Amino acid sequence: MRKKIVAGNWKMNNTLQEGIQLAKDVCNKTIPQDVKVILGTPFIHLTEVAKVVKGTPVAVAAQNCADKAAGAYTGEVSAAMIKSAGIEYVILGHSERRAYYGETNTILAEKVKLALENGLLPIFCIGEVLEERESGILFDVIKKQLEEGLFFLGADEFKKVVIAYEPVWAIGTGKVATPAQAQEMHAYIRQQVAAKYGNTMADDTTILYGGSCKASNAGELFANPDVDGGLIGGASLKADEFLGIVNAF
Ligand code: 13P
Repeated sequence: MRKKIVAGNWKMNNTLQEGIQLAKDVCNKTIPQDVKVILGTPFIHLTEVAKVVKGTPVAVAAQNCADKAAGAYTGEVSAAMIKSAGIEYVILGHSERRAYYGETNTILAEKVKLALENGLLPIFCIGEVLEERESGILFDVIKKQLEEGLFFLGADEFKKVVIAYEPVWAIGTGKVATPAQAQEMHAYIRQQVAAKYGNTMADDTTILYGGSCKASNAGELFANPDVDGGLIGGASLKADEFLGIVNAF
């Protein structure tokens, strides 16, 4: 049975002190046993938030890692460093990284490889922009992102990956995908996984929805058979709202 996951992506928000407080506020709430809750924090917060969540069911994710293992790459943070801070997950391929920092599928494949080699579990983001949806090439875009970013992995590696479908036009815009749009794409993604790795792997793969998901719309999104949870931006910055999403299954 695949895991239900609700992951917060704090993006570049919260000072260290605010982040610690938010993590404490989340951990102080009752979290349903069948939902994995993950906090995706800025690098600087990781070790402190890891201390806060210790002994709770909450896990921590970095929001990125370098595409190189180590060396003279000023300002970069390696997968090995993240792992050594006691972190379990890493968000890779977010559309903001793709759009603002030039991350291509080729670069992302390197990051995925390094993350897995270092024992991190990737939350791999894919999604189309509005023009791609409107011109009808949305499925081709998603297929290419999957094939180039993930499908080079062997089955033993792929099974550690969580996929997050985040239509770019829904991110931070308040324009959430309809439950039908989300289900249609999630089912397509699962079919692609089945075609590459078989039906058992496809059944076991967690596919999250991201983009303007909040407590008031999470229930109808998560009710879809192929939507296994959410990757949450803005609504992960307030503990009550975030827990509303966690409890929306
Ligand atoms: P919002 O929930 O703010 O739309 O952001 C979604 C997202 O990008 C999560 O990674």
